[in-house]
Amino acid sequence: MHTTTSQAPIDYRDLARGDRVHGSLYTNPEIFAEEMSRIFYRTWIFVGHTSEIAAPNDYVRKSIGTQDVIMTRDRDGDIHVLLNRCAHRGSIVCNEPRGNSSAFRCPYHGWTFRNTGDLIGYPFRQGYGESGPELNLASLPRVASHQGFVFASMATDGPTLAEHLGPAAEEFDRLASLSPEGEISLSCGWIGHRLNANWKLLFENDADGYHPQFAHRSVIAATNTHIGDLYSDRSPVTAHDLGHGHSLREMRPVYRDSPPLSWAGASEERLPDYATQMRAALGDRADVALTDGPPNLMVFPNLAIMDIHISVFQPLAPDLSVQHVTAVQWNGAPDLNRRELQQTVASVGPAGMFLADDAEMHERVQQGLAMREPEWVDVSRGLLRERTDEHGHAVGSVTDETGIRAFWHEYLRLMTAEEVA
Ligand SMILES: [Fe+2]
Repeated sequence: MHTTTSQAPIDYRDLARGDRVHGSLYTNPEIFAEEMSRIFYRTWIFVGHTSEIAAPNDYVRKSIGTQDVIMTRDRDGDIHVLLNRCAHRGSIVCNEPRGNSSAFRCPYHGWTFRNTGDLIGYPFRQGYGESGPELNLASLPRVASHQGFVFASMATDGPTLAEHLGPAAEEFDRLASLSPEGEISLSCGWIGHRLNANWKLLFENDADGYHPQFAHRSVIAATNTHIGDLYSDRSPVTAHDLGHGHSLREMRPVYRDSPPLSWAGASEERLPDYATQMRAALGDRADVALTDGPPNLMVFPNLAIMDIHISVFQPLAPDLSVQHVTAVQWNGAPDLNRRELQQTVASVGPAGMFLADDAEMHERVQQGLAMREPEWVDVSRGLLRERTDEHGHAVGSVTDETGIRAFWHEYLRLMTAEEVA
C-alpha cells in the first residue's frame, strides 16, 4: 500500500513506472500541489496565441496552472505575461476576459500599472517617503512564441522554447503552412468545459488512439465517419514520442492514400476558393500541403492541436479541470474556416458529440481512481511492439499508449529533477 505523509517525500519513480502509474497521482492534493510548482511553474506552458492580442494594448486573461495571468501586448508590440494580482494588497487587477487598455487600475486602492507590469502611480503620494514603493505586477521572466503560439515560463533559466519544443516545432509550421498567408488565428473565442477529473486524464485522452472505436461508437455510427478505420489495429497511423513529453499521431499515411483535403472531410470541389488560393500561394508545394493536412500533436503539459481544433488543459484541483477549446482559423481561407468551425462545434462545442463522450469517461475514471482498488493504471499497451526511430524516440501503432508514456516520461523527469525554480 502506498501512503504519503508530509514527512516523507513522495517517491515519484515508484508511482510512475513506465508500464503503469499509480492512482494516487490523479487524486492526492499534495501531488497536485507539487505538480504546480515542479511542472506548471517551471517548464514552458502554452498561454495563448498572438492573434488574440493582435493590436497594441490588447490583452486577454489566461491561466498558468491555478494562477490567473494576463497576456498583454504593449504599445511597442512586445508581449508580456503578468500575474493578475495587485502588488499592493493582492486584489485581482483585471476583471475582464479581454479588452484593450494601456494600463490596469486596481479597484481597491487605485494603484495603476502599465500593461508591461510597471507601476504608474497610486493615490496620496506622501504616505511612502521620498522614492515611493517599487512594486510592479509580477511579470513572467521568459515569454516566447512559435507560429504565434505564446509560451511562458516562471523559471529564469532552463531550456529555450525551441529546445523544449524540439521536433514538435515543425508540426506548428505544418499547421501554419495550410494558410495561403502562412499564418493561423485563434479568433473564434474559447469554450471552457469544466470537468470533474484530473488534468492529466484530459491530456492522456487526446494522446489515446485506443478509445475512439469504443467511447465514440455511437458518434461513429451516427455520422458514418472514417474515424473508426483510423483508430483500429489495421490502421497505418502511427504514434510518435517526440521527446520532452510531446507526441504526434502521424495521419499522413492515410491522407496520402486519399484525395487532397480528405483531412478536412472535404475535397477541392467543395472548397474551390481555398484550393485556388493555396495553389496561387504555394505553387508546386500546394499538393503536399493540401494532401498532408494539419498535425495531431500533443504539447506537454497543457496543449493539444487536434487537426482542426485546439484544446488547452487547465488544472484547478486534483479532481477538477477546465478543457478550453477553439477552432483553428487559417488566415486567407474563409471557406475552409467556415467548414472547420462547424466541425469543431459539432465535435467539441457546447453539445459536442466527441467531447461529451470523453467527458463522461474522464469523470468515470476519476470516480474509479478514488476507490481503494485497483491502485494502478495500466499504460503498457504496445510496449512489446514499439520500435525506435533514428532520434531514439519510440514509435508505436495508433492504438498503442506510446503518447501517454511520452507524457509520463517527461512528468517523471520534472517531478524528480533536483532544482526547483
Ligand atoms: Fe475521445
